[in-house]
Amino acid sequence: MLWLFSQILFIMSYTPALSRYQHMPYNRVGNSGLKLPAISLGLWHNFGASSSFETAQAMCRTAFDLGITHFDLANNYGIPAGSAESNFGKILRQDFKNYRDQLIVSSKAGYDMWPGPYGEWGSRKYLIASCDQSLERLGIDYVDIFYSHRFDPNTPLEETMGALDTLVRQGKALYVGISSYNSEQTTQAAKILSELGTPCIIHQPSYSVFDRWVEEDGLLETLNDKKMGCIVFSPLAQGMLTNKYLNGIPSDSRASSNGFLKSSDLSQERIEQISALNEIALKRKQSLAQMALAWVLNKEGVTSAIIGASKVEQIIDCVSATQNLQFSQEELDEIDKISLQT
Ligand SMILES: NC(=O)c1ccc[n+]([C@@H]2O[C@H](COP(=O)([O-])OP(=O)(O)OC[C@H]3O[C@@H](n4cnc5c(N)ncnc54)[C@H](OP(=O)(O)O)[C@@H]3O)[C@@H](O)[C@H]2O)c1
Repeated sequence: MLWLFSQILFIMSYTPALSRYQHMPYNRVGNSGLKLPAISLGLWHNFGASSSFETAQAMCRTAFDLGITHFDLANNYGIPAGSAESNFGKILRQDFKNYRDQLIVSSKAGYDMWPGPYGEWGSRKYLIASCDQSLERLGIDYVDIFYSHRFDPNTPLEETMGALDTLVRQGKALYVGISSYNSEQTTQAAKILSELGTPCIIHQPSYSVFDRWVEEDGLLETLNDKKMGCIVFSPLAQGMLTNKYLNGIPSDSRASSNGFLKSSDLSQERIEQISALNEIALKRKQSLAQMALAWVLNKEGVTSAIIGASKVEQIIDCVSATQNLQFSQEELDEIDKISLQT
């Protein structure tokens, strides 16, 4: 009984920290009017029905208290798919009901979500139905940003971009973006949306010290050219760019579950790179996670880095990255030398 009472009190008692806007930098998304926090929180892992709701809620509260105003979702985040949106909807109702106008909630559609020919990729049929389902799960009238989650080689780009434009005109999304499109696809998507009168304000690619495809592809230059924002995902390479794997694979880590990050990804060479990068971070008086985040945020045109987390302490650690975003040329060269070696 006492336990139940304390739980109810805990759920009811959240008041955001008054200091929440004091330290987080907010960066403009391309040439749009929208600003995003330098660090955003993604709910891909650890926020679904198979994870602890209390921990998920505590992480969202801590994030908001530290100035993280942006929560990134997708239709398929879970496990099971959809349950991260349902859980975040519950958190919105319990904790953030009076703060909707201080939050940026995003969702996406593109990957496999429901059976049959209309449950994935980039058709108008799928995108519009999926956005409706996301709004239902989240319990809100609109998302702030809606993304095409991946380029669909079999659907005319005009159709996919037309669906994004429709969602804005229907009031279901305030802004639209694309994720993981290459430079050429991005140029075409931006042109189509611009002609429709709905600017493509943001791109969400993966980017980290260990994942440089955006540099090789020229995507960052394209985004700067098109005056689009860039919010990077997996900036910690799913946890490899932290000190957590220096002494083996912890049982509660992502690599131990052998899903999107596998224990085999942590080869001897990888561990040696992580260890060498950790030495640079220590000299900078940062954790490796903080240095890895500072590194992406230091790149021209990067608006925000979306971190994932399994613990409140990780969010606290990551947010402090913003205290030192500067690098000497020697540090940058050394990081390249370590991370680009094969
Ligand atoms: N658009 C897309 O296609 C796409 C794809 C993937 C992700 N995303 C978005 O990007 C978000 C972030 O992706 P991600 O989770 O791969 O990002 P990440 O930040 O690279 O990795 C997050 C993981 O790193 C570990 N971690 C975080 N902070 C730490 C710290 N301070 N110290 C030690 N370990 C720390 C945690 O691992 P443990 O869980 O092991 O503790 C955490 O789950 C997703 O939630 C999603 O919103 C988008």
